[in-house]
Amino acid sequence: MNEKELIEKAIEASKKAYAPYSKFCVGAALELEDGSVIPGCNVENASFGLTNCAERTALFAAIAQGQKNFKKLAVYVDRLDFTPPCGACRQVINELAPNAEILLVNSKKEVKRTDIKELLPLSFGSADLKGEK
Ligand code: THU
Repeated sequence: MNEKELIEKAIEASKKAYAPYSKFCVGAALELEDGSVIPGCNVENASFGLTNCAERTALFAAIAQGQKNFKKLAVYVDRLDFTPPCGACRQVINELAPNAEILLVNSKKEVKRTDIKELLPLSFGSADLKGEK
């Protein structure tokens, strides 16, 4: 899987978004260590707070498939601005994919690279529960 293919998967996933309220369609593509890819899209609800973001959809689907080694997470929105993961997704990425490279992709297929250390400094995680920090 090269990066262009990963980005195409994120674009494809954005077309599956269920976003009748915001009309803000987000696609995610999570690449596993073996090169396979798990897609995710945002799934909204009339009870707005139940909305699930694209990133979490992909990560939860991956966990449900028994996967745990994640290499890259591409996030696409058909906008010129790059869309960074929301706070809830950052916390979940920190838990499940702390080593993944995060690729924010805009409508021109330009890529902004980041990772969870940059997006969520001074994070709270399992080490805090164990008093290991
Ligand atoms: N959304 C995502 O899916 N991922 C993000 O990183 C930011 C926000 C979704 C949630 C909601 O369905 C819509 O975008 C507008 O907030």
